[in-house]
Amino acid sequence: MDIKELDTNAAAMVTRGKGILAADESTGTIKKRFDKIALESSFESRRTYRELLFTAPDAEKYISGVILYDETIRQQTADGRPFPQLLAARGILPGIKVDAGAKALAGFPGETVTEGLDGLRERLAEYRGLGARFAKWRAVIDVGAGIPTAASLAANAEALARYAALCQEATIVPIVEPEVLMDGDHGIERCEEVTDATLETVFDALFLHRVRLEGMVLKPNMVIAGKKSARQAGPEQVAEATVRCLLRRVPAAIPGIAFLSGGQSEAEATLHLSLMNRGRKLPWELSFSYGRALQQSTLDAWKGKPGNVAAAQRAFLRRARFNGLARDGSYEAAMEQAAA
Ligand code: 13P
Repeated sequence: MDIKELDTNAAAMVTRGKGILAADESTGTIKKRFDKIALESSFESRRTYRELLFTAPDAEKYISGVILYDETIRQQTADGRPFPQLLAARGILPGIKVDAGAKALAGFPGETVTEGLDGLRERLAEYRGLGARFAKWRAVIDVGAGIPTAASLAANAEALARYAALCQEATIVPIVEPEVLMDGDHGIERCEEVTDATLETVFDALFLHRVRLEGMVLKPNMVIAGKKSARQAGPEQVAEATVRCLLRRVPAAIPGIAFLSGGQSEAEATLHLSLMNRGRKLPWELSFSYGRALQQSTLDAWKGKPGNVAAAQRAFLRRARFNGLARDGSYEAAMEQAAA
């Protein structure tokens, strides 16, 4: 483990004015995204789409790192440049999703535990050789009647901590992602309660497993009402509840927190981040590691057509720039009306 490199890369991932692009959709998830633009998902269409994102002009101004999928980290541009090398040459850190997905937790109907620890040490060594400098592992916490249970929180936290320790051993910065889903009909108060309990359990496990806080990045959900809730919280309320919850649970030694977007619209995810960063003095950087909230308008502009690539790249840059502005609170909702 090279502690200096670990800490330097963790800090670079959450550097001011930039954030992370999550482009690590599994083959099943990217198919769902392509279905919406009536595009067939194939090895080549996935490669073409990722090339569009990774070669977007000026992306390095707002993007500090990109999370890749196993297939993607082995792919290349049409002119033969491996994606990790292309990104690194632009000053963008390549990362890799290493979990094997959330699987049903035996004995706990409706709950999951994320798998993928077996053989992880060897896979991390290979990914490092391919250029990965950080990794991601996502735990999924659903909210409902009687869930999450203490058992599922503990099982997921233990897996996250073991993953994080293995990453650091390999000088790979772990993104620790415990995602409390926003799919339910619960209000914002319940989301705060569950996020609070989740973060408490996760940090207990990280301490127990001797994970170095300076050499990791936390990727949490925002504290927000469930999508099916009749009582939607306003943007200021989301910002306030999220910051309050994080201040209570996240040690100041962590260099930064990079939110997932989790089903928020592009504009919502950007506004929430901007409000959190406006006029507050916080112990860590508050950044983004968005998947859908950085790609939705790009996919809509592209639709799989070669003639639309430049327009799609402009759409991507626009989202990246807006989120870059949100890093110091200077993004305003009214900017959405300005032409792309
Ligand atoms: P979303 O921003 O679409 O939630 O994706 C981020 C991510 O990496 C989820 O694991």
